Amino acid sequence: MKLGVNIDHVATLRQARYKGIIDGVPEPDPIWAANAAELAGAHSITVHLREDRRHINDLDVRLLRQTVQTRLNLELADTPSIIAFAERFKPDEACLVPEKRQELTTEGGLDVIRAAQSKLPTTIARLQRVGIKVSLFIDADSEQIRAAADTGAEFIELHTGPYANSQTLEAIAAEIKKLTAAANLAHKLGLRVNAGHGLNYQNTAGILAVPYLETLNIGHSIIARSVFVGMRQAVRDMLAIISCVSNSTGINRRPRLHTLRTTKLSQRPRAYSLVEN
Ligand code: PXP
Repeated sequence: MKLGVNIDHVATLRQARYKGIIDGVPEPDPIWAANAAELAGAHSITVHLREDRRHINDLDVRLLRQTVQTRLNLELADTPSIIAFAERFKPDEACLVPEKRQELTTEGGLDVIRAAQSKLPTTIARLQRVGIKVSLFIDADSEQIRAAADTGAEFIELHTGPYANSQTLEAIAAEIKKLTAAANLAHKLGLRVNAGHGLNYQNTAGILAVPYLETLNIGHSIIARSVFVGMRQAVRDMLAIISCVSNSTGINRRPRLHTLRTTKLSQRPRAYSLVEN
């Protein structure tokens, strides 16, 4: 199991003070964040270049392309100028996401069934032609997964938002069941499987029960913790949670049983450790 660290919110903090200002040394610098995350053991760095450039901008991506030592994963919408940018700067991976101007963060998975009828397959082929591995951010839905397999993308990233937002044990178990069925189907259809969105120090342990996951892409919770403990420690803390499940293929062995100590978001977590029976 690998950890991809999404550093968008480092740029969000920078923009809170320096939006539109190009003089001086705008801080905090996402490049430093990527560097610290990698030093702590992150397996990849993710940024989302949004059309409105609300956090990460073109220069960030160009500099990250030159400095990231692991893998650079670019989240992007299927819009002509952003796709052309990706073709030019060639991140190692590209994750296609839906994008709405008004949303605070990516709200739902891509509608691959609809998109597959338009330019999505061409976009995927264009990105692959320059050596980029393509992933589609989708909900844990069998029809979406079948459609994703037909597009030629190498990966899907399962949307874990509904799992992260679940408030009861029953709801959590139901979401894990959906994600497990989705991962099994994706694997059967030849897709590789990543996951992300809303994962934090309390709920990430629970997601490890889902088979075939290769990389978890996590942003907000790591950046939030880094304010208090520093980026390296925040990344190490998350790695400690996910590293209990790994092997040389990057595909997880399923732990016998994982139980989260905390089940309600309203409770203060005592620990994020696993209970293994
Ligand atoms: N994966 C995708 C496709 C996303 O859009 C995001 C949010 O940018 C993440 C993972 C990370 O989500 P979070 O910030 O909630 O950890």
